[in-house]
Amino acid sequence: MIKIADVAYSRLRAPDLDRMEQFLTDFGLIRAARTKTALYMRGTGAAHHIHVTELGAPGFIGLAFHAQNGEDLARISKAEGASAVEHMDAPGGGRRVRLTDPGGFAIEVVHGLEASAPLAVRSNVMNTGDAGQARTGTRKSLAAGPANVKRLGHFGIVSPNPKRTVAWYRDILGLAGSDEIYVESEDNVMASFNRVDKGAEFVDHHTLLCVQGAAAGLNHLAFEVEDMDDLLIGHDHMKAAAAGTHMWGPGRHVIGAQVFDYWLCPWGHLHEHWTDSDMLNSDHVLARHPRGDGVVGSQWGPPPPQAFVDQVS
Ligand SMILES: [Fe+2]
Repeated sequence: MIKIADVAYSRLRAPDLDRMEQFLTDFGLIRAARTKTALYMRGTGAAHHIHVTELGAPGFIGLAFHAQNGEDLARISKAEGASAVEHMDAPGGGRRVRLTDPGGFAIEVVHGLEASAPLAVRSNVMNTGDAGQARTGTRKSLAAGPANVKRLGHFGIVSPNPKRTVAWYRDILGLAGSDEIYVESEDNVMASFNRVDKGAEFVDHHTLLCVQGAAAGLNHLAFEVEDMDDLLIGHDHMKAAAAGTHMWGPGRHVIGAQVFDYWLCPWGHLHEHWTDSDMLNSDHVLARHPRGDGVVGSQWGPPPPQAFVDQVS
């Protein structure tokens, strides 16, 4: 019905907002707003917030996506089961349309949220094999501390039937398929990686990953950090602060090729740091891979633990 512009934010629920804020601060997010009943966290980018936690019993509420314009917001309000266009009486403001995805989770399509001034981050020039000496005459000294989360990058969700769930996201929100992993027949999709469709413009390899599992839910929320140093410094900080539970990484994915590191929040929602993703545009044709063809795992770093394969919250 429309082609969404980008991911906007995730919406979780937790019984202790102080504890969630501490975890997310160690993870590298920054408080944008806090009310009596909700916590809004931002990155260093211009989005007002990229992570919402509502006070209550632990749970995954849903996902939000940016519409490209107000006309698209009006158009999506005509989708089956959609709400009317509503004004959001919450930090960041804006308008939204509420939908329900095939897993029963709350999907918000939003437009007109306030922007925030981007925050400064340290520069980190690196020498690489191709470019040679990029920082001759300088001495590098990087401070310890949380990673610098720039922005929300993608969502990983679980569905008993990824093919059906992904069809909904492609039909309603205009996502385009990047890669799929199947078992035996190409119809039997075990994992589907989908990106925002901006035609010739290059975008992240995936915005929505859907993996097969017994129950629908969240697999992970993924946030882009500054660079590989930043990801590894953030890893050390999470360990030193005893923040969350480490699940997998650091390593480099095969499909999408991001450098990754995964952490569970105190209520078992998986949060990913990533950097250096493949970028695709409309020249890319959906690639289908049989499982076991070396596509699940790491280019370097450890293979996925069973806990990651089974992760749903
Ligand atoms: Fe991811």
